[in-house]
Amino acid sequence: MRKNRAVSQEKEFSILTLDDDKIMTLTLQSYFQALGFHVDAENDPFTAIERIRTNHYDILLLDFLMRPVNGDEVVRRVREFNKDIFIILLTGHKSMAPPLKTIRDLDIQGYYEKSDRFDQLELLVESCSKSIKQMRTIRGYRDGLRTVLEKIPLLSQIRNMQALMSGVLEQLRELLDCEDGLIYLDASAIDLENAGEKKSDSYFSGMGIYEGCTELGRTSFDKISQSDSLFTDKEEHVHMAALCAEGGRPFGVVMVHRRTKVPEEKAQLFAVYVKQVGGVMGNLIYQSLLQRQNEELNKAYIETVDVLRKMVDAKDFYTRGHSDRVSYYAVLIGQAMGKEAACVERLRVGGLFHDIGKIGVPDAILQKPSRLTEEEYDRIRRHTTLGKQMLLSVSSMHDILPMVESHHEWYNGSGYPAGLAGEAIAQEARIVSVADAFDAMTSKRTYRTNLTLEEAVAQLRDGKGTQFDPEIVDAFIGVIDRTEDILGRLKDTFSDLNIQGNQEVGV
Ligand SMILES: [Fe+2]
Repeated sequence: MRKNRAVSQEKEFSILTLDDDKIMTLTLQSYFQALGFHVDAENDPFTAIERIRTNHYDILLLDFLMRPVNGDEVVRRVREFNKDIFIILLTGHKSMAPPLKTIRDLDIQGYYEKSDRFDQLELLVESCSKSIKQMRTIRGYRDGLRTVLEKIPLLSQIRNMQALMSGVLEQLRELLDCEDGLIYLDASAIDLENAGEKKSDSYFSGMGIYEGCTELGRTSFDKISQSDSLFTDKEEHVHMAALCAEGGRPFGVVMVHRRTKVPEEKAQLFAVYVKQVGGVMGNLIYQSLLQRQNEELNKAYIETVDVLRKMVDAKDFYTRGHSDRVSYYAVLIGQAMGKEAACVERLRVGGLFHDIGKIGVPDAILQKPSRLTEEEYDRIRRHTTLGKQMLLSVSSMHDILPMVESHHEWYNGSGYPAGLAGEAIAQEARIVSVADAFDAMTSKRTYRTNLTLEEAVAQLRDGKGTQFDPEIVDAFIGVIDRTEDILGRLKDTFSDLNIQGNQEVGV
């Protein structure tokens, strides 16, 4: 009875039996072969050592007293390169057994006094086989978990869901040694997870026999979400696990099929792996939702800010259209300086929003026809910092913050808010500063009439090195010289921007 069980259980173990007595090795070989072990016999100790070095054996059965070297010496040499093999020492008589210390030191799992019956030896070998099996399982877990730990971070770097799913299937192919697998993420479950308003699509990825089996993915998901998070059909070698973010409801399913039985430790590894993958995918879903919401929020915020910008312009009859013109001039300067397209675009947006902080300055101060008090002037000066704070929460506006904050800095350091000088002022802010001043000069203001183009150009020249960056002034004057009737052009450019009657702002 026990023999039959042993045959079915022990097939996977291999034994080397070593004795200088040929009859003994042949007897042991046939005995354990009958139990289903793979058994090799060897009569020369040195050849046996080499066989262990070059082949895999689980158990070594060896005689203690041999020629030319004894069994303990053979074990000593084997242990130098192999700590894993289980060793059972056979002795002729109790009195001839090696000392206990030697058995311990050489990590010999047991010894057996030779007799006509092998029952005791069989029990010893069985006990070794059980330990080997346990060790194999532990190693399988350890290696598998190590592989999972190595693989999961690679998945976290993938930002596209479809690519992530393909990556997971590829890893499963290696991890479980399986050819067939599928992943299905359910649209309604993703929406549920996201609580997003935009409808998501279902995702499917399949390999092997499951390629293109979207419907199977859908039904498997229904099955798994109604049962536990794991499902195994041992006869069909099918394993299924739900994908959930930590503590969340299932949003998808992973299914694998192996042509042969999935070993227990691999099946458990599959469950651990899918749990980790659920976390990674949940993160990606959550992040794309956040990004979507962020984009929507940003868009809404920018629209609001744009309304505010127009309100700033509209607040003061005399400065109407100012930010559009500053934007226009800043772009011309950027182009003249040979800036790349992204920089020119920043100048365009920066010009539009540079004075957004003025929304926080009372109308009475902005529109005051008489001279401002020091305190009132201080309130106006705060518009640069205020503008920066307003746009700080919009990530897409971060590029233009230096222009908003620093367009009133002077090249010689006597501007505000920080008193920065020269290169310490962002170049784009220096450009907006020139554009801003030029528009102020050529526009009619509450407290003075506008300058002529020639007078404005002269003032720009005067400000070189004090208020303005000389290089930028030169670039702008170059543009003005090359452009016939630059102020008249402006009128055409902004005719659709509701700048009524540019004559009102001096153009
Ligand atoms: Fe300003």
